[in-house]
Amino acid sequence: MERLSDLAEWRHWCEEIRRSGRTVGLVPTMGALHAGHASLADAATHAGDAVVMTIFVNPRQFDDPSDLSAYPSTPAEDDEVARRHGVEALVRPRLEEMWPSYPHPTATTVRVSGLSEMFEGVDRPGHFDGVASVVTKILTVTGPCRLYMGEKDFQQVAVVRQFVRDLGFDVEVRSCPTVRDSDGLALSSRNRRVSAEGRARALEVSRALHDLSEGRWTLRAAQAHLLTRLADAELDVAYAEVVDSETLERWGSGRTGRARVLVAVRVDGVRLIDNGPITIDEEG
Ligand code: PAF
Repeated sequence: MERLSDLAEWRHWCEEIRRSGRTVGLVPTMGALHAGHASLADAATHAGDAVVMTIFVNPRQFDDPSDLSAYPSTPAEDDEVARRHGVEALVRPRLEEMWPSYPHPTATTVRVSGLSEMFEGVDRPGHFDGVASVVTKILTVTGPCRLYMGEKDFQQVAVVRQFVRDLGFDVEVRSCPTVRDSDGLALSSRNRRVSAEGRARALEVSRALHDLSEGRWTLRAAQAHLLTRLADAELDVAYAEVVDSETLERWGSGRTGRARVLVAVRVDGVRLIDNGPITIDEEG
């Protein structure tokens, strides 16, 4: 496994891979790798791509400085996970090359209006501008054929798909299923900051999503079920909504079909997000 940090070397490595006739698959991460990240690398390996994984804790997507400073860092473990899951180049770009003017704002920002302003974007202003800008830069340097992202960050994937289409990036965005712990909690680097008691309450999120993924629901029954379960667990709910899977617009009453349920809660001061599918039917 190649370890790179220099932007020119990273670009050159990817060029050489393409020149040799192979495809590049990109897995962008912020480190603290877990089985969810590993599944993205596995998907890329399975597709036959030369897997480039980036680890960059992007300060521009943190609206809260304490969240940034609390972000876990596990470099030795990350190397091991990457190596075991077939990553061919592990890139840790340097802050001064990614955002040369940091901590001052960068003149150029990629902003996806609409999709970035709802749900996560409401409580975390500027978050998706930071994500869209960094993913744009990582795509530009890497030039992958496929980009692998986790479905747990459903809104993030929607934002990325939108700017990939709008800016004409020649890359296929593959979203991979959320990986869960055996108790059902969606894997997240943030989980390690949640107490055992908080975790027990947070599990109501995945349980409620599991209920809603089965059978058919009226919109009203789905919303009531979701809110009751989250309230019973005394969770601090940021949002819990049934939405259109592409536009993320709130699901209109009277509309039927496949939709998505998006949830964000705060547990022990940690923001946890999750989502799942649902079928909305008039009759329930
Ligand atoms: O999901 C993440 O880890 C980050 O938002 C990403 C996509 C690596 C951009 O910094």
